Amino acid sequence: MERLTPRAGIGQIAPHKPVRAPHGGRPFIDLSLSHNAIGPSPRAITAYRQAASNLHRYPDSEHTMLRAAIARRHDIALDHITCSNGSDEMIQLVAEAYAGPGDEVLFHQYGYHGFAKAARLVGATPVVAAERDLTVDVEALVELAGDKTRIVFLANPNNPTGSYVPVEQVQRLRADLPAHTLLVLDSAYAEYVRRNNYDPGFGLVDDHDNVLMVRTFSKSHGLAGLRVGWAYGPPAIIETLDRVRPAYNVGLAAQAAATAALGDEEHEAATLAHNDECGAWLAHELRAMGVRVYPSVCNFLLIRVPPDPAMSVATLQRHLWDHGILVKSLTSYNLPDCLRITIGTEEENHALVAALREVLD
Ligand SMILES: Cc1ncc(COP(=O)(O)O)c(C=O)c1O
Repeated sequence: MERLTPRAGIGQIAPHKPVRAPHGGRPFIDLSLSHNAIGPSPRAITAYRQAASNLHRYPDSEHTMLRAAIARRHDIALDHITCSNGSDEMIQLVAEAYAGPGDEVLFHQYGYHGFAKAARLVGATPVVAAERDLTVDVEALVELAGDKTRIVFLANPNNPTGSYVPVEQVQRLRADLPAHTLLVLDSAYAEYVRRNNYDPGFGLVDDHDNVLMVRTFSKSHGLAGLRVGWAYGPPAIIETLDRVRPAYNVGLAAQAAATAALGDEEHEAATLAHNDECGAWLAHELRAMGVRVYPSVCNFLLIRVPPDPAMSVATLQRHLWDHGILVKSLTSYNLPDCLRITIGTEEENHALVAALREVLD
């Protein structure tokens, strides 16, 4: 009898493994995931609580209030927006809608791991363009784009590198890609970027029928636990994604909280100010210990640990773990001497620096 097997490609997807927390319910500091350091907006919490008495109801399958809030906030049209269960789901929906066996899905070397997963999930071939100095090389992407390339994913800025691609280069990328290739701009960290030559993608979407921008409420809005993402694109692409997605993909409380979060510009400003200030402090302290800190426009820092046989990344991670501090190693990205550290609260950042000083100073 033939054995039961999953579709081709599924076996190459590694199940997600979170960084393990210390045993015994000890308090710990989690800097391994790109959480919002100051937490969710108080307005989102209120809306979430108010949704509790309606939890027996299905959520709005058209995300009406949420899309209206997004449209108002960004001055964009409703039929250009759809929502998802985190932006991770949107990345998968795009792959399901536009790629399949025999097709290629192109992305960059240290690109967000969701891109490779989405390609494999639909049986397409992931194609990877080399980066330069942990930064996307637009020309390398163009060189690898061909007849079979259905999707190009560009995380801008990128996780885990924290680097970004200036808007002129993204425009050039679109111009040099084949017309049949959908360019997906994953702008998960857009709000954090303080650079004049950065654009999350609104203009590119407006100017082309083959560009989609993907956004999330997980980072600057602090709602990672609720899973809300959205996309801005030409109505034909949005309508396609609406056909593919599960009808009730964004929960009722999640829609309510995300809608409220969008109205809390004070919380968002506080998030960004915290990130600017604490990120600069943390980078300075780490550099003073001889650690290489890559420039980051996100809410995390990528660090390279100085070569020292007595202090490998694994040893360092273990040392931090013993202090109840979780950070992310990047062996799965083939960056074995690097760690990704999220910018935490002031207290968390001080605890991290103190623990690192014990072994690095
Ligand atoms: C670049 C990038 N894209 C997408 C995501 C997915 O985020 P979420 O599914 O929480 O919206 C992440 C999460 O870390 C990310 O870093």
